This record gives sequence, structure tokens and C-alpha cells, in this order.
Amino acid sequence: MKILILGSGGREYSIGRAIKNEQEKHELFFQPGNGATNELGENIAISDYDELVAFAKENEIDLTIVGPEAPLVDGVVNIFKANGLTIFGPSKEAAQLEGSKVYMKNFLAKYNIPTAKYIESDSIEELFKFTNSLSIPIVVKADGLCGGKGVIIAQSHDEAKKAISEMLSGKSFGDAGKKVIVEEFLDGYELSMFAVCDGKDYILLPAAQDHKRIGDGDTGPNTGGMGAYAPTPLVDEVLYQKVRDRVIRPTLDGMQKEGAPFEGVLFIGIMVVNGEPITLEFNVRFGDPECEILMPLMTSPVSDMFYKAATNRLADIKVEFSDQYAVGVVMASENYPYGSSTPAEIILDEVKHEDIANNTHISFAGVTLEDGKLYATGGRVLVCIGLGDSIKQARDRAYLRCGQVHFAGKKLRTDIAYQAL
Ligand code: AMP
Ligand code: GLY
Repeated sequence: MKILILGSGGREYSIGRAIKNEQEKHELFFQPGNGATNELGENIAISDYDELVAFAKENEIDLTIVGPEAPLVDGVVNIFKANGLTIFGPSKEAAQLEGSKVYMKNFLAKYNIPTAKYIESDSIEELFKFTNSLSIPIVVKADGLCGGKGVIIAQSHDEAKKAISEMLSGKSFGDAGKKVIVEEFLDGYELSMFAVCDGKDYILLPAAQDHKRIGDGDTGPNTGGMGAYAPTPLVDEVLYQKVRDRVIRPTLDGMQKEGAPFEGVLFIGIMVVNGEPITLEFNVRFGDPECEILMPLMTSPVSDMFYKAATNRLADIKVEFSDQYAVGVVMASENYPYGSSTPAEIILDEVKHEDIANNTHISFAGVTLEDGKLYATGGRVLVCIGLGDSIKQARDRAYLRCGQVHFAGKKLRTDIAYQAL
């Protein structure tokens, strides 16, 4: 197939890499891609969706895979489908599950899917009143997309009220804060689950755990994710089944009833409280870095899974996973997540140790290529992935690989997968 992947991160690199490693040969294009994706395929620089459609038609693209949420919420899937193209991802309407937390919470409530007790409103009086009824900590969320920054865990009622006021006034998140959610704090452990959906059927991937905070021991500010591992032993068959029955099935049925069947990746942020899975949020795409560890665990061709999902035929296939574990350690730039960093040349040691060469790899994200040299250009730069027969083995291999990557200011957590070890 000729496959176009939209996005520029480690997530998109890892999808491309998995497709590249399939037995069948495919031709890959990335829009816009990064400084390393052009080793896997061709980077193209077309940001206008109509021009992208023209490119896909001219080049006879068989399948387009959308990585990030922004183009989904913009409706890129609707535009491609209206032009008769095959694309994997939710429609603009279905992408509201991530694009609007108010839509998502009201959907969960309507279909009796367990979630934190909440109120959504644009009235400061109503929000304050509900805030007063909660004990601390109190969770305040802006409705719209805020690049992962729209959630405040307030440690006092005053802090919660300040966050509400600043969101409503547009001061903190502009239009994304015009409506606000206040909800109860859930105390438990957090999981990422991913269901690849075709509107009716779905394939549930091994459960993963992300590490959102910048610092070891889950300290410091939130990031996009500093590392992940899967499958996590914190999930057993009983919990998987609860998520299937209480979250995924009612979501797919509910979205059909809403006239917005869900095709694409349903990313379920789960808090497990006393053994019960509670839905924290939905995203409508793969997590990053979760995708980077899930792709290498798939032993069936991933391009076929995406193609079958995009053509509503997931029921026709069986997707197999390796019985290994994967651990991914993110290496970020010096000033991440506070600000930008000076570009720094990346030196990759030649991996001589056979065990490390065979059981690790790198997914590249914030990198550019200049005169044949790779530069870290800020944010999350790359992910070192280790595979193994145990989480510990996979983790040790991932960290050994990290030791062979050098750039000025490199930053990484040293405790990825600690909850499982
Ligand atoms: P979200 O963007 O909704 O996933 O929120 C970002 C992070 O905030 C989540 O990954 C959780 O760690 C935390 N969070 C969100 N909602 C709650 C909640 N109701 N209780 C506890 N933590 C939460
Ligand atoms: N790693 C979490 C996310 O992609 O939102």
C-alpha cells in the first residue's frame, strides 16, 4: 500500500517504523514528519487539507493514518472521506470526545459510563457552588483543547475558584476555557487503554502506563509523557472485561446512537479506584509515548489493522500481540516542559552489544536533519524502547540504550515502570 501518516512526533515515527518492518513492502509518506521519518519514507510539506487531498489522489494513497488530535478535531477525516479517500481516524463529530471535555462528560453521563462526579457550566456562581460542596483536592478542567495543560488539580477551594475565574475570563486558555468542568478528585492508579475501533467492532491493545510528570517519583509539572510501559501487571482479565463491558461497548453503541460512529483510536484514561475502572477522559488518538511501546508489541501487520478499521472490517481479522514487555524512556530537551531549548547535535553511539542491538530501538520525535546531522530541537526529542521477557529486562535494556544517546541538556526520568517493579 501507499500510506500517508499525518503528524511529526515519536508516535507517528513508531507507526511508520512498524509498517516498515512488515513483511509486505509499503511506501510511506509523512506530513510533515520529522528529521528522522525521512529514513522511513518521504516527508511532504503540505498543510492545507484540500491540497493534501489533491496530493493523496495524485499519488494514489491507499490509506491515511492521522496521529495527533488537532487535525481530527478540524475535520480532516470528513474532508478525506468526502473525496472518496480511505483514512483512519474519527470524524470531526466523533472527535468531540477529545475536542470538548463537556461533550465527553455529558456523553459519559448519558450512557451511564462510570466517571468522576462533575458539573459543567459557564456560570461562575454554579461552578463555585459545586466547588464548595467538594472536599479537596478539586479538579478544574477547561472544556477545549489546551495542549494537555487544561487540567488543574487544586489543593484548596480558593485555588479552585481562582482557576475557574481565570478559565472563564479567557485569561488562562482563551476560548477553550469558556466552559469549565469541576469534578471530584479520584484517588487510585492511572492506566492508558487503547481500543482500535471501526465504528462497531474494536481491538483492545495491552494496557499501558504513562509517566506524566517531568521528575522522578512523579514530581514537578505535567508533560506530554516521559515514558511508558506495557503490558502492565496492574491489569488482570477481570479489569479488562470491566473496561470492555462498562466503557468501550457502551461508548461505541452510544456514539452510533449519537449519529457519530467512532472510528479510530479510542484512548481511555482510566483511574482504578478500589478495583473499579473509572473513566477520567477520552482522547481520540494514540497516546505518545504509549504508541511507541505498543507498536513493537504487535506481531500482526499494523497497516492491515488500520486499513481494516478504516474500512469497517475489523471483525474480519485477528490481531496478535507478542508476549514480551516494552518499556519506553523519553529523552527531552533541557528546558522541557517550561520552554524552548537551543538545538543540540545528537550523537548516537554505534550499538555493539548484540543483546542491546537486537532488543532496543529509538523512536524519533523532536529532531531535524541538517547536513546529515541530527539535531534535538526541543520538547520530547526521542524515545528509547527496550523489549524483554520481563518488565525489568525491558527497562534495563531501554536504559542501556539511553546511555548510548548524547546531546547537550538531555533530560530523562530514571524510574520509568517503577509502579510495576
Ligand atoms: P486529563 O487531561 O483529563 O487526562 O487530565 C490530566 C491528568 O489530570 C490525568 O491524567 C490525571 O492524572 C489527572 N486527573 C484528571 N481528572 C482527574 C480526577 N477527577 N481525579 C484525579 N486526577 C485527575
Ligand atoms: N501520553 C499521553 C498523551 O498522549 O496524551
